[in-house]
Amino acid sequence: MAVLSASASATVMLMILSNLIYVIFSDPICQPTYPPDAIPVYEEDRDLLQFAENLEFLEAEFFLWGALGHGLDGIAPELAMGGPPPIGGQKAKLDFLTENIITEFAYQEVGHLRILESTVGGIPRPQLNLSAPNFASVFDAAFGYALMPPFDPYHDSLSYMLASYVIPYMGLVGYVGANPIINGYQSKRLLAGLLGVESGQDAVIRMYLYERAKEVVHPYHHTVAEFTIRISELRNRLAMCGIKDEGIIVPLELGAENRTESNVLSANTDSISYSRTPGEILRVVYSSGDEHVPGGFYPNGANGRIAQEFLKKP
Ligand SMILES: *[C@@H]1O[C@H](CO)[C@@H](O)[C@H](O)[C@H]1NC(C)=O
Ligand SMILES: *[C@@H]1O[C@H](CO)[C@@H](O)[C@H](O)[C@H]1NC(C)=O
Repeated sequence: MAVLSASASATVMLMILSNLIYVIFSDPICQPTYPPDAIPVYEEDRDLLQFAENLEFLEAEFFLWGALGHGLDGIAPELAMGGPPPIGGQKAKLDFLTENIITEFAYQEVGHLRILESTVGGIPRPQLNLSAPNFASVFDAAFGYALMPPFDPYHDSLSYMLASYVIPYMGLVGYVGANPIINGYQSKRLLAGLLGVESGQDAVIRMYLYERAKEVVHPYHHTVAEFTIRISELRNRLAMCGIKDEGIIVPLELGAENRTESNVLSANTDSISYSRTPGEILRVVYSSGDEHVPGGFYPNGANGRIAQEFLKKP
């Protein structure tokens, strides 16, 4: 044993030394290596990721206008690929905290559009309707009657965050839905990275609202929690595929392990994110309940092959 241990410790010393030399003299590997025959982006990946660009445009423009008072045309006009500027975007009246959050989200969306366009090619920015009356009609549909005065997302920080509740979540569930049918290693890398940040944005918005869940949204007689529940229910109705969207307070059977009414994150019975198809998403963001009938945030419809094919077949 003693003899063995002398040679063993010599071996250990050598190993430590050689590791040290390796660390000092070699470049550490920081990128995964892909099999030599792996394909970075498949043709089908392109369609799905270009579909996602429609949602990224909506987020980019809504956040840029809300935080800075101007849109993509003032920051990176080339990313619009010649598409028209949005209708009705405005600087929102935001407090310091909210403005910082939304400014960060806005620039994140610019990055998302840039990487999407350089990876799968850009689509022209679709016509977007960011006007206060369009948000008001979404909230009226959610409550089933006309809120008075009409809901105005640009009025203050809480209104803006309630309006924001409407947006990144659709990107999140869309990426989860696209994931199983995306194949290229570069497409998958991109999708995971986009999904990570979209769900982070959604979580920040939901946490902000959760902290205020019991507050009444002045001058309406509904709490913040109720607003989120009504919006989530509206989206479930429009998408017509069951419950895939939950407010920040839920009945126990929708909470984590059927044990919480608190629902900071929206997730299914195994607490994994819900998933939606492009058709479901369009039914919601068109506010029409029909992927063949544009409207809502996209008065002329979304761009790219997937959305355009729905528009050709009414
Ligand atoms: C934007 O939405 C509002 C409210 O629905 C609507 O009145 C207006 O006509 C829309 N604008 C366009 C260009 O579709
Ligand atoms: C929660 O309830 C649903 C039915 O509402 C059931 O299908 C599910 O298994 C339950 N989950 C747990 C962890 O008990």
